[in-house]
Amino acid sequence: MITIRDERPDDADAIRRVILDAFPTADEADLVDALRADGQLVSSLVAVLDGAIVGHAALSPVTVTGAERGVGLAPVAVATACQGRGVGAALVSGALDAARTRGAAFVVVLGAPAYYDRFGFGPASTWDLHDEFGGGDAFQVCAFEPDVLRRGSGAVRYAPAFDRFTTG
Ligand SMILES: CC(C)(COP(=O)(O)OP(=O)(O)OC[C@H]1O[C@@H](n2cnc3c(N)ncnc32)[C@H](O)[C@@H]1OP(=O)(O)O)[C@@H](O)C(=O)NCCC(=O)NCCS
Repeated sequence: MITIRDERPDDADAIRRVILDAFPTADEADLVDALRADGQLVSSLVAVLDGAIVGHAALSPVTVTGAERGVGLAPVAVATACQGRGVGAALVSGALDAARTRGAAFVVVLGAPAYYDRFGFGPASTWDLHDEFGGGDAFQVCAFEPDVLRRGSGAVRYAPAFDRFTTG
């Protein structure tokens, strides 16, 4: 059975190992460490399977002109040996629940539309929003409060720790 819970202080090493395993470079693992150090983790969720941490999802604040209370879901990582068993789905659902509970009006994500549309994400371009990373159709939004989102437009800015993906 998969359990989703908030990260605990002694989970950081296990989280880093999972992210390093899921992504080809250390950028995403470094990102999560930086978000934690910066106090920018709105939510940091782990997936536990058979007593081991096998997945992780992070939420951090985003800003966009005109629309308040946005959060970004990034990264989402599942250990390669445990992919395809619903861990990612449990993490994304848990992250959306956490975002809603913490009062978010919308959640943005950069990822495969074929994966994220099942959770209620749709193209951010529909809302006249774009990301800073050239994500195009991969940049998606899940609107909890469409009226808030309707007031926003333009670039969605992630926390400073994400600058590692925009600057060389
Ligand atoms: C994307 C990821 C989090 C999904 O985790 P997971 O535990 O394998 O996901 P689930 O078991 O809940 O779902 C598996 C389903 O998603 C699909 N899927 C996984 N990655 C996909 C992608 N990039 N595009 C489309 N579908 C994808 C699988 O084909 C499978 O489909 P099915 O349900 O029809 O069989 C995981 O593959 C991962 O960590 N990937 C590397 C890191 C990454 O790319 N993260 C996302 C961007 S931050």
